[in-house]
Amino acid sequence: MDKKQRIKLIGAGAVVVATVLGLAGLFTGGKLMYHLQNRGELGPLSRSDIQYLNVEAPEATGRDGTVNASDWAAVYPEIVATMGDNSKNSYVTDYLEEDPYLVNIYEGYGFAKDYGSARGHEYTLEDVHKTQRPHAKANCLTCKTPNFAKLVNDQGVGVYSMPFEEVEAMMEENVSCYTCHGNDAGNGGALVVTHSYVNKALGENAAAIDPATLSCGQCHIEYYFTPADSETMMPYDGVAAMTPEAILAYYDSIDFADWTQESTGTRLLKAQHPEMETFLSGKHAALLNCADCHMPMEMSEDGAVYHSHLLVSPLENQMLLENCATCHGDTDMVKMVRGIQDRVTARETEVGNALSAMKTALADAAASGTWAEEDLEAVRRLHREAQWFFDFCYVENSEGAHNSELSMRCLDTAEAKIGEAMALLDAEDA
Ligand code: HEC
Ligand code: HEC
Ligand code: HEC
Ligand code: HEC
Repeated sequence: MDKKQRIKLIGAGAVVVATVLGLAGLFTGGKLMYHLQNRGELGPLSRSDIQYLNVEAPEATGRDGTVNASDWAAVYPEIVATMGDNSKNSYVTDYLEEDPYLVNIYEGYGFAKDYGSARGHEYTLEDVHKTQRPHAKANCLTCKTPNFAKLVNDQGVGVYSMPFEEVEAMMEENVSCYTCHGNDAGNGGALVVTHSYVNKALGENAAAIDPATLSCGQCHIEYYFTPADSETMMPYDGVAAMTPEAILAYYDSIDFADWTQESTGTRLLKAQHPEMETFLSGKHAALLNCADCHMPMEMSEDGAVYHSHLLVSPLENQMLLENCATCHGDTDMVKMVRGIQDRVTARETEVGNALSAMKTALADAAASGTWAEEDLEAVRRLHREAQWFFDFCYVENSEGAHNSELSMRCLDTAEAKIGEAMALLDAEDA
C-alpha cells in the first residue's frame, strides 16, 4: 500500500474527468462523488485532482478497535502529518481578561472562572483535563476524542453519565480520523458521522447538509445534555430549526436551563459554539462547506493532491484566498473580513456591558426584598432571552465572518431585551 498505488492524474483534461467519473463505483460511500458531481470546482487544485485508490483499512491498533492516525500514516502520510500540524495552533486568548463583563454575566457558572479561546484539535484532551470548569461526568469528552464516540457506539448512552475520570483514563487520541471517517478513510476518504446524537437529532434531515459541513457540525454546534441520561444532544431536528429564536423556543418548551444564577434568580442558558448553525443560515450555505474554507488542497512532492487536515483561517492561506477570488474577484478579503469582525466585536462589547449592568440592577432588585416575585420573574424572562441572544453571537468563533447579519441580529435582539428589562427595573424603582 505504498504511495505508488495511488493514481495520480494531475494536469486536467478530458482523461482526468472521464477517469474520475469512471471511478465513481469505487467510492462506495458516495461522499466524495457527491462533491465531484454537484459542486463547482474552486481554485487551481480541485477535488477532481484528488486520487486516492481505495485502500483496505490497516489493522486497528486503538484499544477500542479504532484505526488511529499512526495506523493510517503509511497510507496517507500527508494527511496524518497535516493533521498533526494542528498542534501549531496553540495560542489562547483569555476572554475573561479581554472582556471583564463576562465574569459578571456568567456568575455562578464555570465560564466565570475559566474561559480561554479554543486552540487546535491536538489539544482537546489536554485542555479538557486542565480546565477549571467542573466536569463531573464523561459527557464532557463528547467532542474531544474519537474514543468516546466509539465507546458510545459500542456501549450506548449509559456512557455519558459515567464518572469523568474513569472514562478519561480510557481515551487515547485527540480529534482524529475515526471522528470524521469512522474506520472508513480508506474508502476514498468517505465521511462518516460517528457521533450518534447527530443522527438521532436530525434523522433524515441530515441529508440536507453537505457531508463535509456535517462532519465539523458533529462538534461545532450548540448542544445540551439531556436531563434524563446526560446524553449530548442537538436542540433541533433540522436546518430550519437551527436559528437562535427556534432553539430558545425549544429550550423553553422543555423548561431547560444550564444553571440558575444565584444573585438574580434567573434560569440561564449557556450557548456553546454554534458555528454550523450560524454558517447554515449565511450567504455561503448553499455554495461552500467548512472544508472549502478551512482545509486547503495541497500537492505533495510526488504529486499527490489532498486536503490539508491542518485547519486554518482562510485569511492566512494563499490557496484558500485564491478560492475566494473565484467568486469575490479582486476584493481584499482580509480587509473585508476584518472590517466585519471589528464591527461585530465593537457591538459585542457595547451590548455585553449593557447586559452586565442590567444583570447587576436585577440582582439589586432581587436583594432589596421590596419586589413582588412576579415582577422579578418578568425581568428574569427578559434577562434569560437577552443573555441567550448575546451569547449565541459571542461564543461563535468566527466573530461575524460566517454570517454577519445573524451576528448583528442577535446583538440587536439582546439589546432590545436589555432595554425592556431596564425599563421595568427603572419603573419599579421610580
Ligand atoms: C470531535 C469534535 C470536533 C470535530 C468533529 C471538529 N472539531 Fe474543531 N474543535 C473541536 C474542539 C473541542 C476544539 C477546541 C480545542 C481546544 O481548544 O482544546 C476545536 C477547535 C477548532 C479550531 C481552532 C479554533 C481556534 O480558536 O483556534 C478550528 C479552526 C476548528 N476546530 C475547525 C474545525 C473544522 C473545520 C472541522 C471540520 C473539518 C472541525 N473543527 C471538526 C472539536 C471538533
Ligand atoms: C466562506 C468561507 C468559510 C466557510 C465555508 C466556513 N468558514 Fe469558518 N471561518 C471563516 C473565516 C473568514 C473565519 C475568520 C478567520 C479569522 O479570523 O482569521 C472563520 C473562522 C472560523 C473558526 C474560528 C477559527 C479561529 O482561529 O478563531 C472556526 C472554529 C470555524 N471558522 C469553523 C467553521 C466551521 C465548523 C464551518 C462549517 C460549519 C466553517 N467554519 C465554514 C470562513 C469560513
Ligand atoms: C475533523 C474531521 C476530519 C478528521 C479528524 C480527519 N478528516 Fe479526513 N477529511 C475530512 C474532510 C472534511 C475531508 C474532505 C472531504 C470532501 O470534501 O469530500 C477529508 C478528506 C479525506 C480523504 C480524501 C482525500 C482528500 O484529501 O480529500 C482522506 C483519504 C482522509 N480524509 C483521511 C483521513 C485520515 C487518515 C485522517 C486521520 C489522520 C483524517 N482524514 C482525519 C475530515 C476529517
Ligand atoms: C462560490 C462563491 C463564493 C466563494 C468561493 C466565496 N464566497 Fe464569500 N460570498 C459569496 C456570496 C454570493 C456572498 C454574498 C454577497 C452579498 O450578499 O453581497 C458572499 C459573502 C461573503 C462575506 C460576507 C458574509 C456576511 O455574512 O456578511 C464574507 C465575509 C465572505 N463572503 C468571505 C469569503 C471568504 C473569506 C472566502 C474564501 C475563503 C469566500 N467568501 C469565498 C460567494 C462566495
